[in-house]
Amino acid sequence: MAAKDSARISSLIESMTLDEKIGQMTLVSAGWAVTGPHVSGDYMTALRVGQIGAISNLWGAERTREVQRVAVEESRLGIPLLFCLDVIHGHRTVFPIPLGEAAAFDPDLWERTARAAAVEATADGIILAFAPMLDVARDARWGRIAESPGEDPWLAARFAEAKVRGFQGRGLASADSMAATAKHLAAYGAALAGRDYAEVDISERTFHEVYLPPFRAAIASGVAAIMPAFTDLAGVPMTAHVPVLRGLVRERWGFDGVVVSDHGAIAELVAHGVAGDVAEAAALALLAGVDIDLMGNAYARGLPVALERGRVTMDQIDASVRRVLELKARLGLFDDPYRRGAGASSTVDRADAHRAVARDAARRSIVLLTHRDGLLPLDDVQRRLAVIGPLADARADMRGPWTIVGRAEDMVTLLDGLRAAFPASEILYEPGVGIEADAPCDIAAALDVARGADVVVLCLGESAVMSGEAASRARPDLPGRQPELAKAVLDCGKPVVVLLSSGRPIVAPWLFERAQAVLATWFLGSTAGHAIGDVLSGRYNPTGRLPVSWPVEVGQIPIFYARRPTGRPADPAVHYSSKYIDLPVEPLFPLGHGLSYTQFELNGLRTSPAEVHPGQSITIECDVANWGSMAGEETLLLFVRDPVASVTRPVLELKGLAKITLAPAETGTVQFTLAAGDLSFLGPDLAPRIEPGTIELLVGRTADRSTALRTSIRLFDS
Ligand code: NOJ
Repeated sequence: MAAKDSARISSLIESMTLDEKIGQMTLVSAGWAVTGPHVSGDYMTALRVGQIGAISNLWGAERTREVQRVAVEESRLGIPLLFCLDVIHGHRTVFPIPLGEAAAFDPDLWERTARAAAVEATADGIILAFAPMLDVARDARWGRIAESPGEDPWLAARFAEAKVRGFQGRGLASADSMAATAKHLAAYGAALAGRDYAEVDISERTFHEVYLPPFRAAIASGVAAIMPAFTDLAGVPMTAHVPVLRGLVRERWGFDGVVVSDHGAIAELVAHGVAGDVAEAAALALLAGVDIDLMGNAYARGLPVALERGRVTMDQIDASVRRVLELKARLGLFDDPYRRGAGASSTVDRADAHRAVARDAARRSIVLLTHRDGLLPLDDVQRRLAVIGPLADARADMRGPWTIVGRAEDMVTLLDGLRAAFPASEILYEPGVGIEADAPCDIAAALDVARGADVVVLCLGESAVMSGEAASRARPDLPGRQPELAKAVLDCGKPVVVLLSSGRPIVAPWLFERAQAVLATWFLGSTAGHAIGDVLSGRYNPTGRLPVSWPVEVGQIPIFYARRPTGRPADPAVHYSSKYIDLPVEPLFPLGHGLSYTQFELNGLRTSPAEVHPGQSITIECDVANWGSMAGEETLLLFVRDPVASVTRPVLELKGLAKITLAPAETGTVQFTLAAGDLSFLGPDLAPRIEPGTIELLVGRTADRSTALRTSIRLFDS
C-alpha cells in the first residue's frame, strides 16, 4: 500500500461516523427496472448519506458511472463504490460452465476465458467478481457441481490460479482488471446428501487435504477477496468460523484482502442457531473477520447494538473498514473512480475475438464419453440427419445456470450449429418431448423423423435451471419423458449420437450401452452449437476429459477416485470386502476419461533421477505415439501413490498434467516435474511432513490404475 493511500485511509477512518463505517461494510443488490438493472430511490438516498459501500447486479458503463458519480460527488466523504457481479463463466460472451471448462484440463484456457470475461465486465463498470467458485465437488446430486472445477483438489488449485490471474490481469489497478473472490470457503461441496445449504461434517484432514488447496492456491496468487460458504463445518458456520477465517487464512496464510459474506449469510447465523439475534450474528461475523455484509443488512442493524453491548469494539470495526478502503485503493478507485467503463465500446469491439475464445473453450470442454462402430466424425455428405430432443433448440439453456449478462438471443443452439456444420445434409428436426414431465410431447413424430434418417442426433439433458444454486436433485437422471423418447429412438435401429447437455454427470447407464456415441456437452455458452458442429464433423478432434467420476447409479455417490485404502479392498470374489452386492464400486467413467478420434499409445515411463531429497525435484518422461489416422491432442495425468505411510494415503493422487499434439504416426515425449515437497502430506498430527520410502508414480489418461504406466522412486526426508 502506497504511503499516500495509507495516510488517506487513516484520515478517512478518523473522520467517519459509525454509520459511514458500517456503510463501507454494506453491499446491496440493485434491482431490475424495465430498462435494465437499476438502483432504487431508497438506495440512492442511502448512498448519499454514506450507508452503502458496494452494489451488486448493476452493470453498464453509463449506469455505473452515474451511480459512482453520486457516491463520489454527493456523499459527504466521496468514497467510491465497488460494483460487484457474479461473473461465473463469462459476461456478455458466455463460456462453458466451470465444470465443462474444467474438462479441458487446460490452465492457459482457464486464464484466457477469465481475462476475456474481465475485459467485458470491466467495460461494463464491474470492479469485483464473485468468482472463481472453487468448491471441490464429489456429489452429482449437488446442483452447484456445475459451477465447480470438479472432484480433484490439485486440479481445482490450478483452476484457482488461472482464474485469479485472468480476472486480476496485470494488476488490480488496471482499467480492465477486476478483483476476484475465491468462494465459497470451504467444503460447501460436502453438504450432506448433496442437499444445497445442508450441514457439512467432514474430518479436519479432509478439510485440509481436499477442500482447502484451491483456496490456498488462490491466496498465493493474490486473490483480492474471499467469500465464506453458507454452510457450517461440524457445527460452526463458516461465516463465523474464527479458527479458519482468522487463524488459518489471515494469520497463517497471510491473506490481507477482504472477506465478503455470502448473500444474507450474516443474518442467517440466527437461523443456524449460533446467534440469538441479528446483533449477535453481526458480532460473530465481525469477530471472524467478515468485512462486508452482502445483502443481509445485518451489519447495519446489528453492529451498533453489538457495540453498545460491548460484544465488538470500534477498533475491530475500523480494521474491517480499513481493509475495504485498502482494496478500493489497490483497485485505483481513489485515483480514478471511473476508470472501468471509460472505454464503453470495448465489449462490442472485442465480441468476435471473444466468441473465438468461447468456441475454442467450448470444443475443448466437450467429452466424448462413448464411441462405437466408428460412427464419428460425420463427413458432410448428402444425408438425412434427424435432430431430436428437447435440448436441440434450447437457446436460453445454453447460457447454463449462472449467466447474468449474456443474452439468450446471442447463443448458438445445437440445431443452429449442426445446420452450419453439415450444409450438404438435410436436417430434420423434431423435439419429441419437453424437458419437464408435463411439457407437450409428440414421440410418434420424433420416431417418424428418426426412421427416415441416416443418423440421429439425440439432444438430451437438463434445463439450465436444473443445476446451479438451490437445484440439488435426488435423482440426477434424464428428467421428464426423455428416457421414454430415447429408448424409442434407440429401438429404431438407426445410428444414434447423444449430446448430453447438463450441469452434472447424468445417471443413465442404459443410454451409454445402447447409443453409438455419447458426448457430454454440459452448457457450452455463446457458441455451443458451433463447438459441437466442430467436434461431430471432425474439424476438431475431441480432447475433453472428465473432471469428475461419472457414477453408474445414485447409490455410489459421493464417488471420487482418490479414496483411501481399506483393510478389505473391493473384491467381487470375497464376500467380506468393501463392495456393493448389487453394483460395481467403480464409476461408469473415471476422472480423466474422454475419447479421441485417434488412438494414442504410451510407453517408456522413466524418471531422472530415481530418488528425491527435500528441496529437489525429479523429471518424469513418457513417450506417446499417435497410431490413428487423425492428428490429435493427448492429455496425460501424473498420479502418485504412497503405499506405506504413518496415515493412509489415497489410492491415487493427481500431481501433474501434460499435453502433446501429434500428427498421425508421430511420436513425442511428455515431461512432468515433481518436487519432493509435492509428496509431503499431513501426518497424524495434521502437520505437513515428508516420510522416506518408496513412492509409486503412475502416468495415464485416467484415474483407472489398471491402464496407467507405473514406476517408482525413493523419497528421502533429508
Ligand atoms: C449466493 C451464492 O452462493 C454466491 O455464490 C453468489 O456470489 C451470491 N449469491 C451473490 O449473487
